[in-house]
Amino acid sequence: MPNQPKSKEIIVTGGAGFTQHHLSDNLNDNESAGNKTVLVTGGAGFIGSNFIKYWLGKYPDDTVINYDALTYAGNLENLTGVERNSNYKFIKGDITDYKTVRRALEGIDWVVNFAAESHNDRAIMDPGIFVKTNVLGTQILLEAVKDANIKRFHHISTCEVFGDMELDEKKMFKETDPYAPKTPYNASKAASNHIVMAYYHTYHLPVTISHCANNYGPYQFPEKIIPLFVTNALENKPLPLFKSSQNRREWIHVLDHCGAIDIILRDGKIGESYNIGTLVEKSIEEIADIVLNILHKPHTLKTYVPDRPQHDKRYLLDPEKITRELEWSPKIKFEDGIRETILWYTQNEPWWKKIKTGEYLEYYKKQYNI
Ligand SMILES: NC(=O)c1ccc[n+]([C@@H]2O[C@H](COP(=O)([O-])OP(=O)(O)OC[C@H]3O[C@@H](n4cnc5c(N)ncnc54)[C@H](O)[C@@H]3O)[C@@H](O)[C@H]2O)c1
Repeated sequence: MPNQPKSKEIIVTGGAGFTQHHLSDNLNDNESAGNKTVLVTGGAGFIGSNFIKYWLGKYPDDTVINYDALTYAGNLENLTGVERNSNYKFIKGDITDYKTVRRALEGIDWVVNFAAESHNDRAIMDPGIFVKTNVLGTQILLEAVKDANIKRFHHISTCEVFGDMELDEKKMFKETDPYAPKTPYNASKAASNHIVMAYYHTYHLPVTISHCANNYGPYQFPEKIIPLFVTNALENKPLPLFKSSQNRREWIHVLDHCGAIDIILRDGKIGESYNIGTLVEKSIEEIADIVLNILHKPHTLKTYVPDRPQHDKRYLLDPEKITRELEWSPKIKFEDGIRETILWYTQNEPWWKKIKTGEYLEYYKKQYNI
């Protein structure tokens, strides 16, 4: 059970230019237990970079090491401003490289593993790299963590490991449900969870896992649906909707995800996994309509493209455990979060314009052929 919570007002900045959120959070006595050095893998990606800013904003005396291979999805511009913080350090490295990881783990208290190949569509084109990074990479990282005697390893997982459900189904995924992934990305994430738990049971590694819903917010790579729709709409380009546009996802603001990880790191039980869900569901069609309405763009921009193979219909997480045991609940209302997110992409055109060139355009043509 968590320690008795103390309510404290904190200010979290979600990255340059993003509106500050005043989040009332539960902080516990562990906070006074000394400063931590946290190694964040994949910290140059969307969620990892938001997490680093969240962490250094909330715990300014802690040190954060960002360990990232800088794949196509890694972007140090996501951390502009942070590099001047003396409590932040970047190490370019791959989680499949034991030697470099092991060296980076010197003096580390906690590890949070965000590093992954993360895009379902790309996994269909090239599943091998997903198995290499997400499965083998996680195992190599765990091996190094075991050898370095790390006090906590938190693994970032996804709702997608549980498989999909019917649009009208009356159920939610529970942490104890069997994994039933149906796509190469989902399978690689499920496999990595099994390996994390194997290290817990076999070597007593102090691990926790969280399964999160679909994230949205600033600095998300514009191949993912929300920044894809927003940036295409801003360029007056078609919004590619998969034909099964009623398929829906559960949405969470990235800062709510960061807050949940924080609470799990502090109060979560070793060897346990936690769902991080909001119960806020929106279909692809609804997301396109919301984006077009907020940007005052014509709905004729919606263009239907063939479904990707195994286009999962729906995922929904039961957040009962994290609510009851750790007293976590999301703070950012979808209507507010999506408006601020769209505004952020509107105001940060140079950031996404630079990405939507070269390799991105090649991928885009191959994926959508429009
Ligand atoms: N985005 C979502 O909605 C969502 C939802 C639930 C869970 N997740 C999980 O959260 C994590 C982060 O997702 P994201 O959306 O920020 O992904 P992202 O693709 O934006 O970022 C991934 C980061 O990992 C780095 N990386 C990739 N391979 C690496 C390797 N071999 N070694 C070191 N670094 C490597 C990349 O350079 C990049 O910076 C992933 O594990 C993903 O599966 C994402």
